[in-house]
Amino acid sequence: MRKATENVEIFKARRENVLKKLGNNALIVAAHPEHIRNHDVGYPYRQDSNLYYLTGFEEPESILLMRPGNFPESVLFVREKNIERETWDGFRFGPELAQQEFKVDKCYPIADFERVAVELLKGYEGLYYRLLKNPSFDQKMFSVLEVLKSSQGRTGYGLMSLYDADLFLGEMRLKKSEAEVANLRKACEITAQGHVAAMRFVKPGVTERQVQGVMMNYFYSQNSAREGYNFIVASGNSATTLHYNFNDQVCNAGDLLLIDAGAEYNYYTGDITRCFPVSGEFTKAQVDVYQGVLDIQKELIAGLKPGVLFKDLHEQGASLLTDLMLDLGLLSGRKEDIISANIHRKYYPHGIGHWLGMDVHDAGLYYIKGEPRAVEAGMCFTIEPGLYIPGTDAQAPKEYRGIGVRIEDNILITAQGHENMTAAVPKEIAEIESIMGQ
Ligand code: GLY
Ligand code: MN
Ligand code: MN
Repeated sequence: MRKATENVEIFKARRENVLKKLGNNALIVAAHPEHIRNHDVGYPYRQDSNLYYLTGFEEPESILLMRPGNFPESVLFVREKNIERETWDGFRFGPELAQQEFKVDKCYPIADFERVAVELLKGYEGLYYRLLKNPSFDQKMFSVLEVLKSSQGRTGYGLMSLYDADLFLGEMRLKKSEAEVANLRKACEITAQGHVAAMRFVKPGVTERQVQGVMMNYFYSQNSAREGYNFIVASGNSATTLHYNFNDQVCNAGDLLLIDAGAEYNYYTGDITRCFPVSGEFTKAQVDVYQGVLDIQKELIAGLKPGVLFKDLHEQGASLLTDLMLDLGLLSGRKEDIISANIHRKYYPHGIGHWLGMDVHDAGLYYIKGEPRAVEAGMCFTIEPGLYIPGTDAQAPKEYRGIGVRIEDNILITAQGHENMTAAVPKEIAEIESIMGQ
């Protein structure tokens, strides 16, 4: 029998916490559909982050239903055992084993969902559910809600009110527990050493794909299940394309290589970007851009502590990067005018960072009903300033054309200040040149 990959008590404690917060409302979290690539060959499946967060259960076609105050409070619907399908696709827990192994109060076969859900939801006023992400499951839910409404007649429990489960669970996921920080720290360590392996490997003539392979090999060797998002391995001018992921060109001497890659560990992902010269030595123009971005990144990180507003980080980042654009002669004019007209976005079109956790762009609000949010101990996020000067930009000084730089680290806010969880990957020019020269 397959075993749960993590201690299931962690998930049980999370469900207990959710039950306390639900009031007289129920919660439903469904797995997302499996992707099909061609014919009958699928992609490897990754459980929906919210469903994993509350169960540790990794099979597709599963649904968690939670109903505080009545036994069974936590109910999981799973695929039935099916020897023929298991011969093709592998082990399935089935309701009986899933109930034992994942310590939920009750498991049912997935085929019973609509019938059983109507019974289990009776008497609850509202339902936390993620609408609009999975249209075919939404249809199922509408039918459950309709049958429920008519079965309850005029008892005062009519159509259930719907609340956003993403918002509810997102706020819980935003502040990481010790167990979550341990997973995230491990993901960051693996990611960091993968980047170091890439720095040691790269030389003129290697392909972007080979660099990706070296990193993935390291990730797997550390029991990372998968990459946390698509690799970006972008040499030369490709680094000015934000989400470049062809990753199929040759790395040439004289070019910078930008790598944005993260390993996932127990469903938590690192998200590191480093840029370094293919030949091992920065050119003068590359130093100008790189050192400018690096100084900004370090300045932003230095000030991180509880109470800092995420919105202020965005503004501070845009301001510092606009100063750099002016220094490099990419733009001219008054900084305030440039920023208010969004002209700086030509060379820095993204934000300064994002929450990090089970998803690379992790759950959680940045504003609470319009008010900017302050960071708190236990929150994790990236700091990733960048400057991207397209090779075709006739306005930019010639020597800077085709240079793209982003430097990205992963930060945990602590009671006193912060911890950079990805500090192990070199980013100072001298350190990079030294490691590449070895
Ligand atoms: N790798 C995605 C990001 O940095 O946001
Ligand atoms: Mn990022
Ligand atoms: Mn990234």
